[in-house]
Amino acid sequence: MQITSVVNQKGGVGKTALSVGAAAALAERGRRVLLIDLDPQGHATTEMLGLPEPPPEAPSLAKALTKAWRGPVEELVVSHPRCNVGRGGAFDVLPTSPGMFDLVRRLDQFRVPGWQLARVIQFAGYDHVVIDCPPALDVLTNNALVASHGVLIPVQPDRTSIRALRLMREQISYLESAVGRPPVTYYGLVPGLYRRPLSAYAAAALRELQNMGIPVLAHVPLGVVVNEAGSRGVPVTTFAPETAQAAAFHEIARVLDTATAAEATPPNPPEQDFVFEDFIADVSSARSANDSGSRRRLYDLLPKRHRPN
Ligand SMILES: Nc1ncnc2c1ncn2[C@@H]1O[C@H](COP(=O)(O)OP(=O)(O)OP(=O)(O)O)[C@@H](O)[C@H]1O
Ligand SMILES: [Mg+2]
Repeated sequence: MQITSVVNQKGGVGKTALSVGAAAALAERGRRVLLIDLDPQGHATTEMLGLPEPPPEAPSLAKALTKAWRGPVEELVVSHPRCNVGRGGAFDVLPTSPGMFDLVRRLDQFRVPGWQLARVIQFAGYDHVVIDCPPALDVLTNNALVASHGVLIPVQPDRTSIRALRLMREQISYLESAVGRPPVTYYGLVPGLYRRPLSAYAAAALRELQNMGIPVLAHVPLGVVVNEAGSRGVPVTTFAPETAQAAAFHEIARVLDTATAAEATPPNPPEQDFVFEDFIADVSSARSANDSGSRRRLYDLLPKRHRPN
C-alpha cells in the first residue's frame, strides 16, 4: 500500500482537484485506491465527488482519529459510484466528517506529531491511498505526512508558492526527525492554475521552482471542465477523458505507480499511540489522586517520542 499526501499549506492551489484526479486515474489503471478527505472543508467529498458527509451519530473519520470509534476502516469508506475503474481496481473514498474542525482545535495545542491517521489506515487493503490535506501545516497535515511514503505538491508559479514550499520542507524535515521515520519522498511538484502564455514573472517563478531539486510533473492546465466535472460529482478522468486535464492526471498517476517498487518501508505507528481522549481521562484520574506524586504521574503521561528499532 503506497500512501501519498497531496499537500500545500497555501489555499486554493489545486490540492483537491489533484487528489481526486490522481486517485481516479490510478483506479482507471486498475489499482485499488482509497482517497481520504482529510480537509474539514470537505471539498473532495462534497464539491468534487458529490458524496454526503456521514451524519453526526454515525462512525466517522473524526471519531476514528480520536478512538471514539474503533471499528475497521472499511466501515467508514464509500465506493464512488460514478467513476471509471479499470479491471481489478476500486475507487473508494473516506469522507470528511462532522467534528474534524473541532478535532484540529483540540489536538493542535499538543505539539505532538500525529500517528492517529497511520493507525486508522494501517490494516486497509489498497494499492494506493491518496490524502487530500487541508490548507494548513496543522495537526491533520502532520498526521498525513507522518503516515505517507511521499508527497505531491500542487504549486502556482509565483513568489508566495516558493516561500510556502520552503516552509513545507522545513516542516517535513522536522516531522521526520521528531517521529524517527524514513525520509518522505517528494514525488513531484504539479504546476497549475496559471494562464498561458506565461508572464515573465510567472516564467521566472516556474524556473525557480524547477531549481528546487524536486521533480516537476505534468502541469494541470486551467479549464472549466474541472468545475463541470465537480458539479456532476464525477472525476475529470471519467467526465472528460479526452481533455488535457485528464491526460495530466493520468501522467501523474503513472509516476505514482512506478514509484511503488522503489518505495521505502512504510512507517508503522508506534505501539503506544497518543490518544487525546485517553490522555484527558488519565490526566483527570491523576489529578484526583491526592498525593504529592501526582505531578510526576502527569509528566509520565506525556507522549513519548517514537524511536525506530
Ligand atoms: N485545472 C483547473 N482549472 C480550473 N479550475 C480549477 C483547476 N483546478 C482546480 N480548479 C478550481 O480552483 C479552485 C481551487 O482548487 P482546489 O479546491 O483543488 O484547491 P485546494 O488547494 O484544494 O483548495 P483548499 O486549499 O481550499 O483546499 C476550485 O474551485 C477548483 O474547482
Ligand atoms: Mg482542497
